[in-house]
Amino acid sequence: MSTGAVGRAYPRLEGPAKVTGTARYAVEYPVDGVTYGWAVQAAVVRGRITRIDTTQALASPGVLAVVHHGNAPRIAPGQQPELRLLQEPTVHHRGQYVAVVVATSLEAAREGARLVRIDYDTGPHSTVLTDDHPGLYKPDQVNPSYPTDTAEGDFDAGYAAAPVRVDVTYRTPAYHNNPMEPHATTAQWHDGRLLVHDSTQGATPVRATLAELFGLPPESIRVVAEHVGGGFGSKGYAKASVVLAALAARHVDRPVKLALTRQQLFGPVGYRTPTIQRVRLAADTDGRLTAICHDAISQTSTIREFAEQTAVYTRSMYAAPHRRTTHRVTRLDVPTPFWMRAPGECPGAYALESALDELAIAVGIDPVELRIRNDTDVDPDQGRPFTSRNLVACLREGAQRFGWAGRDPSPRSRRDGRWLIGTGVAGSSYPARARPSSATATARSDGTFLVQINATDIGTGARTAIWQVAADALGVPPERVEIRIGDSALPAAALAGGSMGTASWSWAVIRAAQALREKLRDGGPTGEVTAEADTTEEVGGQPALPRYAYGAHFVEVRVDADTGEVRLNRMLGVFAAGRVVNPTTARSQLIGGMTMGLSMALHEEGLLDERYGDWVNHDLATYHITGCADVEAIEAYWLDERDDELNPAGVKGIGEIGIVGAAAAVANAVHHATGVRIRELPIRLDKLIGVSDLA
Ligand code: MOS
Repeated sequence: MSTGAVGRAYPRLEGPAKVTGTARYAVEYPVDGVTYGWAVQAAVVRGRITRIDTTQALASPGVLAVVHHGNAPRIAPGQQPELRLLQEPTVHHRGQYVAVVVATSLEAAREGARLVRIDYDTGPHSTVLTDDHPGLYKPDQVNPSYPTDTAEGDFDAGYAAAPVRVDVTYRTPAYHNNPMEPHATTAQWHDGRLLVHDSTQGATPVRATLAELFGLPPESIRVVAEHVGGGFGSKGYAKASVVLAALAARHVDRPVKLALTRQQLFGPVGYRTPTIQRVRLAADTDGRLTAICHDAISQTSTIREFAEQTAVYTRSMYAAPHRRTTHRVTRLDVPTPFWMRAPGECPGAYALESALDELAIAVGIDPVELRIRNDTDVDPDQGRPFTSRNLVACLREGAQRFGWAGRDPSPRSRRDGRWLIGTGVAGSSYPARARPSSATATARSDGTFLVQINATDIGTGARTAIWQVAADALGVPPERVEIRIGDSALPAAALAGGSMGTASWSWAVIRAAQALREKLRDGGPTGEVTAEADTTEEVGGQPALPRYAYGAHFVEVRVDADTGEVRLNRMLGVFAAGRVVNPTTARSQLIGGMTMGLSMALHEEGLLDERYGDWVNHDLATYHITGCADVEAIEAYWLDERDDELNPAGVKGIGEIGIVGAAAAVANAVHHATGVRIRELPIRLDKLIGVSDLA
């Protein structure tokens, strides 16, 4: 009895509020008696605070307090040790938050922070990842709970016996998440209860973390995240801003607003780990893979192990009888890495999809055809069939739309004046998971419906998508449905992460709507009727079939033969991601991911100065990202894919698939244009000019 809301291009429900400036973000709520916090960061890499002199800061006009390990309210050791802030004098990395200045204005807090004097004892440090770092070790598992290493067949023998081989190593630098809205919090204590407005991807997990740290029952804490200006993973769990604001508010017994600065986003909130990835591929002479090995190295901190699943992409993407993947990490004196759009899959796919391009050249087979030849219906890792796998369909449709046929595979085969022109392709995949959530649906006596779930819209259009799903599930026009999200006082739900949001939330919303319709059919009371649903059992009881979204990227670049400047002519992606709920917002997610992949390929690079153990390019003037002028044409398409094994809405998730493989397609196009293979991102002009005379 669908009303056809799912699949239609509705504009975002909160669009008018956003463009008129009335949508409130975390530090935009008016609060009586509010004060402002400014975080102070450690100026050394590794050591111990021996003295904090707050005299000058406290004498500065408007400053109310300097909160530090010597006077901060005590908090419990939580599951994320980096959140146990201002409790000890130990410094684990440069930029660690070591104090908060609270003042009656933002400017006064900032000036106060400048006047805090801190002395340290320091020790030697190690902050740079190398493939021979003495601290490299094998973690027990990699994120979120994959085996560290896998092996099938006999890689060494299979590799040695093959007629065609590539053995290549790729490097990716640190990447820094920069959502438009920084991590920001307003914290208020009232009679032992904590209210926070927080910029987060999940108010339910933030509430759980605050309960743990402050030793409170979750019911004493409310976390509101009604509008969030981006996250990309960096706001996936509670971060420093919410802990610092809550500590500061308790210390001064007044509400505190605390927003991290743009510069503070570079490091302590987490970043994508640098990687060193060796990929070995072997094939027979018709391009069928016989052996695949992916060895990945990444870093974590001395505070906590964060072992990214870099090589996991390679386990399930292409078939071969002999396969091996390994992960090694080392603990450096750096902030703990964290999630950034497709953590693991994104850098892993860059390496594998680049190596496949190198193999295609070595074996003399078109790179689209090579991928098609190595497709598989059975997950090579799990030995079970995929619920659906439309990689080949994405490659074929992409090739047709892009105009791939007839491509001359020889590098440097196209030229237009100074510009060398080349094209590249890459595959993409991302797991299609869901997490338990709960929701309520209410029929009101005026014929309207209210659907409540603590989902988070981090700018993706999630609010609108769930509203569409709810309308269809209730069998009423969407105009009669009101949706409430973004508040831990609503039914608990999964965070907006791992491309799981829409799948998880719509599952709960559909079940709540079905329960409500049952109640109404039974001729219940005529007033307001509410039904609730919790998908914990149903999600947990799903058969363990491999579920993935797929995609294919096609890219055309031009490279200035004199300067090595790389420009994107066009980028085209085709994706198979189950049902698409809202074509407008889905397209934005996909082209957003692709743009971020372009940025990764050509621009982004955290440059760490080993002497100071910190990133030197810690603002958007010096950490380059793709801007509008860098994107001449990006198009995203999707297949009409039905997969009934997934979840009641049939969605696979689209937040991350757009970035996976995108950087490889760009790098492969640059190679095709120039004949130069840069295996260390980003592909800057000095690297291209440095290795060859392009002209
Ligand atoms: Mo996304 S990096 O899983 O929030």
